[in-house]
Amino acid sequence: MIREDTASSPDLFSTKPGTISFAGGMPNLSVLPWEQIADDAHRMLLLGGATILQYTTPGISKGLARAIDSVMAASGVPADPRSVIPTAGSQMGLAAIAQSFAREGQVIACEAPTYPGALAAFRAAGARIVSIDITGGLTEESLAAQLDAAPERPALYYTNPNFHNPTGATHDRVSRELIAAACADRGVRIVEDDPYGLLSFDGEPTPVPFAELAPSTIYLGTFSKIFAPGLRIGWISAPEDVRARLAHVVESMTLSPAPLNHAIAAGFFALGDWKGLVADYRDTYRRQGAAMTRALAETFGDASGWTWNEPGGGFYVWLTHDDVSLDARDLLPMAATEGVSFVPGAFFSAQDDYRNCLRLCFSANSPDKTEEGIARLARALSARPVEVAP
Ligand SMILES: Cc1ncc(COP(=O)(O)O)c(C=O)c1O
Repeated sequence: MIREDTASSPDLFSTKPGTISFAGGMPNLSVLPWEQIADDAHRMLLLGGATILQYTTPGISKGLARAIDSVMAASGVPADPRSVIPTAGSQMGLAAIAQSFAREGQVIACEAPTYPGALAAFRAAGARIVSIDITGGLTEESLAAQLDAAPERPALYYTNPNFHNPTGATHDRVSRELIAAACADRGVRIVEDDPYGLLSFDGEPTPVPFAELAPSTIYLGTFSKIFAPGLRIGWISAPEDVRARLAHVVESMTLSPAPLNHAIAAGFFALGDWKGLVADYRDTYRRQGAAMTRALAETFGDASGWTWNEPGGGFYVWLTHDDVSLDARDLLPMAATEGVSFVPGAFFSAQDDYRNCLRLCFSANSPDKTEEGIARLARALSARPVEVAP
């Protein structure tokens, strides 16, 4: 059954005074070199004069192309500068892909649980979602069975393979090869959405990208999690056969890219220490993620019924309760009373699954705040008959 109303969005990005938010995937921008960025923006406005605040041609500037090229190279993704179409964040890339590929009723296979923005984009274009459950580990048989159970051959297979939103998991090489082979056998094109790949805590590269395993892959990148989401800059790296189609859709959505934002990113990635910034982000998230799982272990213990992942990168901890009758949505009012927020698991499902799960995002809060937030969460969750250590 496909439920249409599960995408109704919790308030992900509100920062209600006094509430500790584990809800939205917000970067901790305190690590940004603010003065340098402010100076650059000031200089660009003065030097760029009218052009930087004017409409511009829809293509990509040389400076931004170089910045994207560096990020793609660091991510190990094969990059042809001509393949890159700039977008206002990878969310817009998803919307453009949906609009280009999903005629009404078209099936799109989405790994489940999944990023709700992808579900929203695909559904807005009229697509039907088929969920590919990745929580139990993939085998060739389980993947084939799930893909072949679709009412028609999926047009696309959507994956977020590195430090996945919401589970924090990373597909190993074997799973990637399985997926790439299963999709190739069925003529299904992969969409690889990769906002978190550079944010491994140990700095080690993530396994081989789909863009290398399957040349028809459409790759989505973004500056949101490695620089700043408010600039709204992402990109689609598209194989030649679909490039013009996607470029036209993107152009119809924006008319013109945002030259000031592009210049700020291009300037920082050319002259600033962007690799140092990514290392600072990684360090910050490693400490914040460790504070969250430590606080969970100390507060919930082994007997609470909740289990969770130890993140190796990215932003997320995914909690699962062993009582499958639990619906984390019912816990939201208690959490609001305690002054803490999270996203219920069903929000990441096209079929109202994962109700006994919830997502906590550790990227926005210091270790101290995280500890306090987990104490509040424990009080909120103990308001139902679940054993939580005192
Ligand atoms: C998996 C995934 N894809 C896409 C996005 C959207 O990112 P952007 O800010 O680039 O639009 C997010 C944001 O959290 C995400 O987690």
